[in-house]
This record gives sequence, structure tokens and C-alpha cells, in this order.
Amino acid sequence: MSATSVSPQALAINGGSPVRASFLPYGRQSIEESDIEAVVNVLRSDWLTTGPKVAEFEDAFAARVGAAHAVSFTSGTAALHGAAFAAGLKPGDEAITTPMTFAATANCVLYQGATPLFADVSRDTLNLDPEQVAEKISSRTRAILPVDFAGHPADLAAILKMARERGLIVIEDACHALGAEYQGKKVGSMADLTVFSFHPVKHITTGEGGMVTANDARLAETLRRFRSQGISTDARQRQSAGQWFYEMVLLGYNYRLPDFACVLGIEQLKRLDANLARRRAIAAEYTAAFRESPGVTVPAIRPDVKPAWHLYAIRLELEKLTADRAQIFRALRAENIGVNVHYIPVHLHPYYRERFGFSGGEFTAAEDAYGRLISLPMFHAMTGQDVKDVIAAVTKVLSTYSR
Ligand SMILES: Cc1ncc(COP(=O)(O)O)c(C=O)c1O
Repeated sequence: MSATSVSPQALAINGGSPVRASFLPYGRQSIEESDIEAVVNVLRSDWLTTGPKVAEFEDAFAARVGAAHAVSFTSGTAALHGAAFAAGLKPGDEAITTPMTFAATANCVLYQGATPLFADVSRDTLNLDPEQVAEKISSRTRAILPVDFAGHPADLAAILKMARERGLIVIEDACHALGAEYQGKKVGSMADLTVFSFHPVKHITTGEGGMVTANDARLAETLRRFRSQGISTDARQRQSAGQWFYEMVLLGYNYRLPDFACVLGIEQLKRLDANLARRRAIAAEYTAAFRESPGVTVPAIRPDVKPAWHLYAIRLELEKLTADRAQIFRALRAENIGVNVHYIPVHLHPYYRERFGFSGGEFTAAEDAYGRLISLPMFHAMTGQDVKDVIAAVTKVLSTYSR
């Protein structure tokens, strides 16, 4: 086909002009001059790590999410590892989690030598279905790990009730949900342990970084020791006390988030409310545009929930379309829209298939959703034009492939 014979409506994948001239990623960080200045000041200070910015970030974070304690880690994954350790997971124990997540949620159970058991998700939110969890509980169960998929809080009331009745610990993976609210309470204040990530695509960033919040002081102390070699004091405490003595009291790791990352977190946290407001406005614009679109199911929002919109994941109604998800994904990428897919259900990864014998067909709600999901660009620095471009590209692609 020659360029001149291509209609303006032709998809870029078929030789038409893309909706955008430049690629729009699905997520990215926002860094301001004040962030850079704060980081540089720490680089010029005496403490690059284990210094004063660590507790300052942790205290500000705990206050923001309404938790008694917050303990920083080098990543969300390290924070999950800390939470699994603090929960006391050990070989022979089982922890129940969702397949509709990033593999790190289940991997942290394996790090402790315990066994993750998956339970299927609810079809509306794609969060852990409490009824499916109940069926998996046995005398070996020690923990439940719900994930707040895309930033929509899990069904915490049902999960916490079940856990309290059976003496189980709840580790909420809220890596998508900083700033989300559930029944008027902030995510981070409700579960025994709540885990956050500060990867650049998240609501705030420290480059890499993570946090665990807890209301129990003993859990928080265990987390602090675990992230610093299992040692009972830190270098700054020893320096200020003028002593050299320390003892290793448990088998820990070096998961300490340095001061220059913590100060970035402090600065970023000041903009969390603005970031959330922007994400909520983008989500509202997408939902208004696609609610009536044939071929698309927009994300569900349960009553009494304020999602944090880490992701905006549409589901394709493939029955109404002439193309499959892979084709629609490629067509949107060709329009320069950085769509993504969250998630390949964890049990379908080769490691989990080989180790636990999964072959597909075990968790039909998660697997059906996986075949339909497409994450649209969602980050707080998106401009009005970026949002319009996404809407235009999705509309163009879906109208081309609609039955
Ligand atoms: C649900 C979930 N859990 C855990 C993690 C791990 O966080 P990190 O990348 O900070 O290690 C992620 C990261 O994207 C995530 O999405």
C-alpha cells in the first residue's frame, strides 16, 4: 500500500499515521528541582545511609497512612521478604495469595521456605475472593496475602475477619495502593503488615524502595532488625552512644534504604495528594470515555472504596471484537501508546508450573481476565493531551476491530 492511498483512519499497524508522534509510556516518575536539591544536600552530608533521613521518612510515611510504625526497605520485594519473616512464615507453613499479581507477592513466601497457595479472584475487582480463600485454609495456613490490584483495596473486612477468627496474620501487598482508602480508613493502617513499593512507576518514588507498616511495635522491631543484618542497634545509635558493642540476634539481610533515597521519599510524599488527585482525574476521564464503548469493560469500583489508581486496566470483550488481545496490544503500541499487561497469573510462570505442577485451568477468573487485560498509560504527570491521545487511540483501534 502506498502512503498516499492510506486513509487517515487507518491504523498505524496497517501503515496509517500513529495517533502520537512520540511514545507515551504506561508509567513514569516525576522529579522536581526540590527533589534534586534535597538529594544533593544529603550527598553533601555526613550520612549517606543509616542517617537521620531514614527515621524522618518512616515517621512521615506512618503518619500519612495512619499506621503506628513504618520500616523502610530497599524495594517492595525486600519489604515483602521482611513482612514474610516478621509474620513467622517457615517451612511447613502455607500462605494464601492471589495469582493476579506480580510474582514477588508469592515469591516472598518461598524465600521463607513456606508454600504459597493460590486462591482465585473476584471477577469485578480481580482481588482475592474471600470465599476462595476460605476453601484453602487448613491447619498449615499461617498467613493471607491479599493484593490491592491496580490500587483498588482488597476485600479487607472479609479477609481480616477470617484471619482473626483463625489466628492468621494478614500481609497486605499494597504496592499498587499508596493513598487508597477502604471504608474510610487508609490502606496501611488496617492489616497486620502492609507493604508498599517506591519503584518509579508508583505513586511516589525513591528509585528503588519499599516500606512495611504495622501497628504492633514488636513486628516493627523485628522488621528493623531483619533489614539490617539482624543486629540490635544501628551504626548511628552506636556512634552517639560512643560504643562499639552490637549483637546479631536473628538472621537478617542488608535491605537498608540509603538516606539520599529516603530524602527523595520525604520530598515525594509531600506531593502524594496531588499525585493521587491527578490519577483519579485521569481514571474518571478514561471511564467516562470507555464506559459505553462496545468491546471494553472498565475497572469496577466497589462502594466505600477510594482506589489509588496505580494502573488503569481495561478488559476487552473479545466476543465483540474481531482481533485478539495480542493484536490489539500491538495496534495500540503502533499508535505510540505504551500499553502493558498486568499480570500473567503467577501460577502460569514456568517456575511455578515446574515446581508446583500448574498447567492452566486452575484459577479460571484470573486466567480469563489475563486473556483480556490491557493496562493503559497511567501516571500523575500525564498531560491533558496525553489522556486525549490514549482515548483517541483506543477508540480508533477498537472501532477498527469491532464486529
Ligand atoms: C503487587 C506488587 N507487589 C510487589 C512488587 C515489588 O515491588 P518492587 O519492584 O519495589 O520490588 C510490585 C512491583 O511492581 C508489585 O506490583
